[in-house]
Amino acid sequence: MSIDSLTALIRTIPDFPKPGIMFRDVTTLLADGPGFAELVDRLVNVARPLDVDLIVGIEARGFILGAALAHALGKGFVPVRKKGKLPGKVVGIDYVLEYGTDRLELHEGQVPQGARVILVDDLIATGGTALAAAQLLREQGASVLMALFAVDLPDLGGKTALEADGVASQALIV
Ligand code: PRP
Ligand code: HPA
Repeated sequence: MSIDSLTALIRTIPDFPKPGIMFRDVTTLLADGPGFAELVDRLVNVARPLDVDLIVGIEARGFILGAALAHALGKGFVPVRKKGKLPGKVVGIDYVLEYGTDRLELHEGQVPQGARVILVDDLIATGGTALAAAQLLREQGASVLMALFAVDLPDLGGKTALEADGVASQALIV
């Protein structure tokens, strides 16, 4: 299946979650069996050569893609969650995103010092979320090999912001 066919499976919903935001909704792609399989296969092709120890997924849709990727690679999956969701002792970081501010948290000790990790999310917009997650992982002593996304909204400059902070990234659909 081509990238154009994958792209066609993503719908755009205007004014969600706030007026003026054109929301790229990947649930329509996830709900399509061949499309979801193709998307995950393409993520696996990017990640497999990298000798990764752990996949870290960002809430919420990064869990779906990250878990599928981790399973395909036979690696563990670690969630980075919005504040107050993880039951154990956490480390956290505040961040700004396209439509508000929030806090990301990670279970303390779940990403070992020196771990080689790939960060996964469905989409990069401003890059604020991924940058914060990468910083949190670095604070834990992890090596962030790359940030991997299904979709990039290049007009919002997220990939450039990640690069400026030394985080390599790739998105399948631009
Ligand atoms: C979306 C998306 C990324 C982030 C991208 O999550 O899934 O995590 O925003 O934006 P950024 O690059 O500007 O930081 P959302 O805020 O919709 O949260 P959710 O996944 O919990 O619904
Ligand atoms: N879709 C999904 N997540 C997002 C978007 C979007 O268009 N913009 C910022 N985060």
